[in-house]
This record gives sequence, structure tokens and C-alpha cells, in this order.
Amino acid sequence: MNAFEPLDAALPAARAALLEWFDRRGRALPWRLGQEGRRDPYRVWVSEVLLQQTQVARGLTYYDRFLESFPDVQALARAPVDAVLKAWEGCGYYARARNLHRAAQQVALDGFPQSYGGWLALPGVGPYTAAAISSLTLNEPRAVNDGNVRRVLARLYAERVPADRWVQARADTLLHPERPGAWNEAVMDLGATICTSKSPVCPECPLQPWCAALAQGTPTAFPAPKVRAAVQAVQAVAVVIGTADHAVLERREGALLGGLMGLPTELVDTTEAAALHRLCVRLGARPGALLGEVTHGMTHRHVTLRVYRAAGNLPPQAVADAALSRLDQKALGLARDREASLFPA
Ligand code: ADE
Ligand code: SF4
Repeated sequence: MNAFEPLDAALPAARAALLEWFDRRGRALPWRLGQEGRRDPYRVWVSEVLLQQTQVARGLTYYDRFLESFPDVQALARAPVDAVLKAWEGCGYYARARNLHRAAQQVALDGFPQSYGGWLALPGVGPYTAAAISSLTLNEPRAVNDGNVRRVLARLYAERVPADRWVQARADTLLHPERPGAWNEAVMDLGATICTSKSPVCPECPLQPWCAALAQGTPTAFPAPKVRAAVQAVQAVAVVIGTADHAVLERREGALLGGLMGLPTELVDTTEAAALHRLCVRLGARPGALLGEVTHGMTHRHVTLRVYRAAGNLPPQAVADAALSRLDQKALGLARDREASLFPA
């Protein structure tokens, strides 16, 4: 068993240990190409916006697809917003794509920001993203503070309830002044691969000599679980007019999937029958059979969508050309399954 020494008393050694680990074991991710501290700002920017609310494993697919559609900031700036949403399809939190597009139009005119403050001024770039981009592309000493960083620091200092300002202050102190980008990614990678939330692999951790939580023998007790905001249950009805490939679509409004195209829907406020009736009156359509039910969980909402067939005179459009949410893809899947059972190949 190693003797425990507080991290602040051993900063140079601890920094060296983590960076040595990162240089050997850091993940080879496509946006990590290029010289450290001088990476391509466009690639780093797209990846950081993607990873704001998407896990790295899933983000990789979307990253490749997005860069194929828009290989540089000029291509993104020139594209119509619907093409950008289409490339973001399925990834969720679509405001990110709209902000990225708007910001790209600014960058195409003014050039890439040359400081943390300049990045922070762009739409969709908050303190976390500005710190990540400016450290990775400009070598600016800015410490990131995300869920992984919070967990790792809570354990290193055995802090049960790490407040946001506490985490930021600690991260600022620890940050490697010469290799801020590598340091940020090293802490994030450590949190994602070794110091995981449920089963940290402390024997493989380069920081174990300085970890207060390990010294107490209870790493997973830190940080204490956050009290979660209740998840709101949302009920809605949708109609498929046309087929699974050519259906009537509407542009969604409001906070829930706003800006995307989707099947016409109505929220259920009293009964499902009333909502379906209201929806069909609005569309001038006649309700048909129930196709089934799909659900979709988001951070703060759990949506249950009951999907009906309907007949009406509105023009269907090609589903493949529109940017749809995963909820709509699931709903159209019900129609597709039904068509397949009626007309087997
Ligand atoms: N999560 C968000 N940005 C990241 C990065 N650059 N490396 C690892 N994980 C991340
Ligand atoms: Fe996390 Fe364990 Fe490393 Fe401490 S020793 S930082 S708990 S993985």
C-alpha cells in the first residue's frame, strides 16, 4: 500500500505522472490529430460542441458524418440550416447545431477567435467549451470543468459535495501551465476510462499516491449523488399520413425538438382521444388505426408518443430528405413494420 500524500504538496510529480499516463494511454480520437496546443480549431470546435451532451463513443459516428458533410468552416457557413440539422440528425439537443451554424457564419467572416474570450463570445460556446478549445488550439491555460473533472477532483480531495466554483478553482490550480490542453484531456480521459463513476480502477490510476478518497478506502463515496430534478412525463399523439417513406411532416416549434421536422403531433392534456381529435381537425384529416407506442427518454423529459394512421389531403414529403428526431424515426418505424407485414417482400 502506498503512503498517501496530499496532492497540493506534490503538484509537479502528480502532473508528470498524469501526463505520462496520458501520453501512453490517452484515447486516439479523430479530433486529436495535429500538434498539441495547435490543433485545427474547426475540428476541435465541432468535437467539443458534439461532446457537450453526447458520449464520446456515440459522438464519433456523428463527428465523422458531420465533417464529411462540412469539411471546413467555410462549407458549414455556406450550407442551408436544414442541411446542418440533417447532418446532426439523431444526435439530440439541436440548438447546438443551429448555434454552430450561426457561429460558423461569423467565423467565416472574422476568422477563428484567438483567445478564450473570443471563443466565449460565439453562440453556443460556454465556459467549458471555450476553455477546451482555447487550451487545445491556442495553448491558453484554461481549465475545463465537466462531469469527469468534477468526479476526479472530488475523489482526489475527498470532497463530498464539490460546488462548481470549488471544482473550477481546483482545476485552475492543478492545470499544467505548459501543456494545458493535454492536461485537460488527461483529466477527462482518466475520468472516462479509469476513475469511472461506479467502478474506478484505482490500481491502474497514475494519481493513486495522492488520492484522498482512495486513502479513505471509499472512492465511490465521492462525490455524493446529486439530487436529480424530477423527469417530466410527456404524453403526445402523432399521425402518419402517407407511408413510412413519404409522410406529412411539420416543422416543430417550442423547446421540445424545436426546429426539426417531424410527424404532426399534439400534446395530450386531457384525454388521448381529445388530442387526436384536435390534431385531425387542425390537419383536415380523418383518424385511423393505432400503429403503436414509442418512447424516448431525454435528460429532463420522458416522452410517450402514441402513433395513429390518418387519411387526409396534405402533401406527403420524402422522409429521407428531412432532419428528424430519433423519436420520429421510431414512430415511422411502426408504420414501416406495419407496411412490411401487410406487403411482405
Ligand atoms: N469530452 C469532451 N471533450 C473531450 C475531449 N477533448 N477529450 C476527451 N473527452 C472529452
Ligand atoms: Fe479515481 Fe481511484 Fe485514481 Fe483516486 S485513485 S483518482 S479514486 S481512480
